[in-house]
Formats: sequence, structure tokens, C-alpha cells
Amino acid sequence: MSILFTPMNIGDVRIKNRFIHSATYEVMALETGEVSDKLIRRYQNLAKGEVGLIIPGYMYVHPLGHSYRYQSGIHSDDMIPGLRKLVEAVHKEGSKIAFQLVHAGRQTTKAMIGQTPMGPSSRGRDPVNFVKPREMSVNDIREVIQAFCGAAERAVSAGADAIQLHPRMAT
Ligand SMILES: Cc1cc2nc3c(=O)[nH]c(=O)nc-3n(C[C@H](O)[C@H](O)[C@H](O)COP(=O)(O)O)c2cc1C
Repeated sequence: MSILFTPMNIGDVRIKNRFIHSATYEVMALETGEVSDKLIRRYQNLAKGEVGLIIPGYMYVHPLGHSYRYQSGIHSDDMIPGLRKLVEAVHKEGSKIAFQLVHAGRQTTKAMIGQTPMGPSSRGRDPVNFVKPREMSVNDIREVIQAFCGAAERAVSAGADAIQLHPRMAT
């Protein structure tokens, strides 16, 4: 039998095979950032198809780190019930699920977040949206750290098996 069909551990997480769905943003959440039934069905179907570990598209940890409409959010406790339903749907099929957490940093737009996007420095422009960011203050940095901590706690509350950090903030 191919090794692809044999179980493995990533840290403490036991995965039934070697098939992993790499994070791909779906544009399937509600306007509020809550996961939709359509998004849950997408991952339930992948789990039914024996994908052992599923990483949904990156979830924004703070409203100022929101990249695009219909992106899934994990920035407020209101997101937890939907995220829990997503986890349960995947677990029901015997697969594991990891949440990828992100802050868009400068890779968003004023139209999206209501103010100039921020970055570690105001130098240069974001290569995706060509935005010239404002430089983060120490308080901004503290707030982003807190936002990642809050999001990680929500991921645990929703029952996610693991958390992955997306390095976008550093770009
Ligand atoms: C439409 C799309 C959305 C993606 N969204 C994410 C994402 O949310 N987080 C992430 O880390 N990578 C994201 N990626 C990168 C993929 O997870 C993957 O690493 C990349 O497509 C390379 O794998 P491949 O050669 O199998 O396509 C995305 C890629 C695509 C094409």
C-alpha cells in the first residue's frame, strides 16, 4: 500500500492519511465573516473524499486585517458557532482541521477596512493592491498581537485540531 494511505502525526494531531488540503481562500463566507453552509459543505465533501487534514482559507483576526469580501473571520466571538459547525462537519467524516490565522497588514484597501492599511513600515507599496501603507505604532503592534491571541482562543473554542499562522503581516 502506498505511504499516502498510512496514518501520520503532526505534533499531537493524528491524521488518517497523507492527503492535506492546503489553505485556499474560498470567498464563501457571509458579509459578516461567519462561515456559510456552502463553505461547510465544501469541506465536508473534501473530508468525505478522504482528505485527512483540511486547512480552510485564511481567517482574519482583526477587522483592520480583513482582505476581501466573503473572507472567513475569526476576529470576534460571534464567529465561534459557525466555526464549530465547520469543525464538527469535518470531524464527522473522520478528518482533522487546522485554522489558518491572518492579518492582511498592508495587503488590503481603504475601501475594505475604512482606513489606510498599515504595515511594519510605510516604505514601498504592497505589490498586490499597490497601497502605500501607514507605519504601525507600538500600540497597533500590541493590538495585532492581542488579536492573534484572541483568534487562537476562538479556534480552540471551536474545536480546531491545530492553528497555522499566515506570514502576510510581514510582507
Ligand atoms: C485561489 C487560491 C487561494 C489561496 N489561498 C491561500 C490561503 O488562504 N492561505 C495560504 O497559505 N495559501 C493560499 N494559497 C496557496 C495554496 O495553498 C498553495 O500553497 C499554492 O496554490 C501552491 O500549491 P499548488 O502548487 O498545489 O497549487 C492559495 C492559492 C490559490 C490558488
